[in-house]
Amino acid sequence: MNPSSRSLRLASRTEAISPFQVMELAKRARQRELQGHPVIHLSIGEPDFTAPAPVRAALERAVRAGHSQYTAANGTAELREAIARDYQQRHGLKIDASRIIITAGASGALTLACSALVDVGDEVLLTDPGYPCNRHFVAAFDGVPKGVPVDAGTRFQMTAELLESNWTQRTRGALLASPANPTGTSIPFDELGRIVAAIRARSGFCIIDEIYLGLSYDGPARSALELGDDLIICNSFSKYFHMTGWRLGWLVVPPGLVSTFEKLAQNLFICASSLAQHAALACFEPETLEIYEVRRLAFAQRRDFIVPALRTLGLDVPVMPDGAFYAWLDCSRFGHSDVLAARLLEQANVSLVPGHDFGMNEPHRWMRLSYATGIESLREAVSRIEACLGRPQDAGPSRLG
Ligand SMILES: Cc1ncc(COP(=O)(O)O)c(C=O)c1O
Repeated sequence: MNPSSRSLRLASRTEAISPFQVMELAKRARQRELQGHPVIHLSIGEPDFTAPAPVRAALERAVRAGHSQYTAANGTAELREAIARDYQQRHGLKIDASRIIITAGASGALTLACSALVDVGDEVLLTDPGYPCNRHFVAAFDGVPKGVPVDAGTRFQMTAELLESNWTQRTRGALLASPANPTGTSIPFDELGRIVAAIRARSGFCIIDEIYLGLSYDGPARSALELGDDLIICNSFSKYFHMTGWRLGWLVVPPGLVSTFEKLAQNLFICASSLAQHAALACFEPETLEIYEVRRLAFAQRRDFIVPALRTLGLDVPVMPDGAFYAWLDCSRFGHSDVLAARLLEQANVSLVPGHDFGMNEPHRWMRLSYATGIESLREAVSRIEACLGRPQDAGPSRLG
């Protein structure tokens, strides 16, 4: 038998892991673009801004200085201290740099956290809808992701009450994001306090993904780190710092768990990219932070344009997003979200993500729009969607009931 055609027996956990549809959809949209169609990409959660000039210049300097060796498994001391200083400056929080572990993006951080905390058969509570990869981080370590259906009544977020009523004897913890993907909504801070208290009362773990914390629009962004040092907090350079492809993120872990996380990091990935770590120091320079603030305001402006525009088109956004760069819209008046996404791509050259990527809670009803693109493209997308779908009175009431 030809060795390349021999079929290998795969680990059964691979069956529990489905493709990340957003990436698949983006591939289809790009293929259309290659065929000459002027596609507006409102599907992928990637800022249109790239890393600012001071960060790119710092990367060039790092390359010239030959910073290409491994770093310590938990990251360079300089970057961990810079992140700790940033918590102090922007959030008024005193975090010991020794608690910070640098990872390959939030993805690396969440993989590491699940490797440390999830045992075979452990249930982990997540929201449904939620970030698709979360259930797979849990499943990759043979845990059982348990999606808790959430709706507009709780801003599509977990509450202490929902957590308590879904907690079973097999539940070990919760993995939550605030602000969240795909809804762009945050957990109100007092509710977050109640959630954390409920988890503590059950001796569970609490992982909070704060990858979009820097992109908060309605009032000061508060980190869950305020609530105590027993939480596992994840963050990244991908979104607020506009460095998706640089693959850099971090965890803040409880002081007593540092050596365990460090040991796992040493074995699982040795360290995050050395060049990226050196360059990322420039993110925290005052001139770069000013650039990020201007860009944050640009995102807020886009949100303020797109959400009312979608509502006018009959694509209802029941909860105004307060962070990230997503709008979670109810498209039921126009039919099934899978069919509508295909129609919008083919007839209007506008790419959005249908709800089924984000869970099983009425996915046919929902779509995610990413406004991580320029305001002119957003305006053009709105007029193309209107031309394709007609005015709301033409569409009539919900076709899904
Ligand atoms: C909520 C959330 N967490 C984690 C990630 C992964 O980000 P990273 O690029 O830092 O791995 C994403 C990416 O879209 C996300 O939306």
